[in-house]
Amino acid sequence: MAGFSRRDVLKGAGVAAGTAMFGSVLGDFKQVQGELPPPKQRKYEPIKKPITAVICGYGGRGGYYGSMATNPEAQVEIVGVAEPVDYRTELAVSRHKIPKENQFVTWEHVFDRPKFADAIIIGTPDRLHYGPAMRALEMGYNLLLEKPIAQSWKECEDILRLAKKKGAIVGVCHVLRYAPYFVQMHALVEQGVIGDLVSIQHMEPIHYLHFAHSYVRGPWHNEKDSNPSLLAKSCHDLDIIKWLMNKPCERVSSFGGLKYFQRDHAPMGAPTHCLDGCPVEDSCIYHAGNVYVQKKLWGTHHIVTRDRSPQSILRELEKGDYGRCVYHNDNDVADHQVVNLQFEGGGTCAFNMEAMTSYGGRRTRLMGTLGDVVGDERFLDVYNFEKREMIRWDVQKDFKDLGGHGGGDERMFRDWAQAVGHQDDSFLSVDLAGAMESHLIGFEAERSRKADGQVRKIVMPKV
Ligand SMILES: NC(=O)c1ccc[n+]([C@@H]2O[C@H](COP(=O)([O-])OP(=O)(O)OC[C@H]3O[C@@H](n4cnc5c(N)ncnc54)[C@H](O)[C@@H]3O)[C@@H](O)[C@H]2O)c1
Repeated sequence: MAGFSRRDVLKGAGVAAGTAMFGSVLGDFKQVQGELPPPKQRKYEPIKKPITAVICGYGGRGGYYGSMATNPEAQVEIVGVAEPVDYRTELAVSRHKIPKENQFVTWEHVFDRPKFADAIIIGTPDRLHYGPAMRALEMGYNLLLEKPIAQSWKECEDILRLAKKKGAIVGVCHVLRYAPYFVQMHALVEQGVIGDLVSIQHMEPIHYLHFAHSYVRGPWHNEKDSNPSLLAKSCHDLDIIKWLMNKPCERVSSFGGLKYFQRDHAPMGAPTHCLDGCPVEDSCIYHAGNVYVQKKLWGTHHIVTRDRSPQSILRELEKGDYGRCVYHNDNDVADHQVVNLQFEGGGTCAFNMEAMTSYGGRRTRLMGTLGDVVGDERFLDVYNFEKREMIRWDVQKDFKDLGGHGGGDERMFRDWAQAVGHQDDSFLSVDLAGAMESHLIGFEAERSRKADGQVRKIVMPKV
């Protein structure tokens, strides 16, 4: 076919025949059984004695890290807790046998005491990361810091500056980096399996109910109290994109916003709380009583009540945040957003964060000079242009019982303990400065979105 363009072929063969031929040219990649390079195993060197840590915020994330610490292999001993919700404190105390003097109601009180552990685990809401991070670093603690790192770029820089000054190990919970699926994807790129990476198409399908729970009714529903959804939900994705490209991101632009979850879309006569006699109770897909109790479509962990019975949850829904009509709220974070990124050397990425999906599982397409990859957080289909073959890798075949975030949570926690135990942040997949790059991209993308898609330069300052 050398010397002929596709247009020449179509002209010569007639449109119908040409279409058939072109179709077969694209479609005859054969799926073969083949070996992909095994996902890289991170180094593991036992530490002499478990590290000690205090958990600030024993909720979903803090409690999960607490449960991981009960596994002796984690080599982390939880010696203190700061948590305002009494039944969560009680769980922490009974799980870790925490003495009275190390139980605190809020994070500030931890730092009224002289340093009494190796590290602080920060699992508090987004707006309460900066305060405890800065106090902990000042006092010489190492950190495990939930993402997003903080609510502004300036705060991120402050944390980095102080961490450097104190020589602290700071693990940022970019857990996807530790998940075997993404480790494998990264290894494919790093080892040149698809040649040079030219571009990426990546999508974070949040799921319509997840969005309604977390970003309309829940902790991340407005920017002031938490962060823009791009940071709160997708700093993971920006980090993964950056990791795969392995080049500085130079420019970014973004469009998007809050399109659906607002008053204009409220059904006629809908009250502010679903249980207040909503006229569309039976048909509304977001009706709180149905979602949380009758049909049990979403988890209730964020609803604070000691009594977990359906009656008690319903009582909380009557007046509480999770009983709010999704169209009558003070949510302001984007429910759809596109971000375009350009990297040094010309590589590009188009990223979508989408609330309105029936499914989760990040969708990624990597386009390389010698092949491409199509992935959905379970399967990775790796195409080789020269051999015209495709190899499918199934993460669930190689890794059983992965746990949270595709196995990323436990692996990240273990590697962080290693890093603290050996005082060596090379055990981490990404250090604090590296993790901050995704945040800078996120903050600049937000500025672009609010300035009608203006292209923003990304210049990572030297701190
Ligand atoms: N790495 C990830 O993939 C991931 C996933 C979910 C959440 N997060 C982040 O983790 C953090 C916690 O999220 P979550 O889902 O566990 O929320 P959560 O509400 O379940 O937990 C937060 C806990 O902090 C406690 N708290 C509130 N004020 C406090 C104070 N002054 N002092 C001490 N504790 C206080 C709350 O009572 C609650 O128990 C957030 O920043 C969130 O963005 C990260």
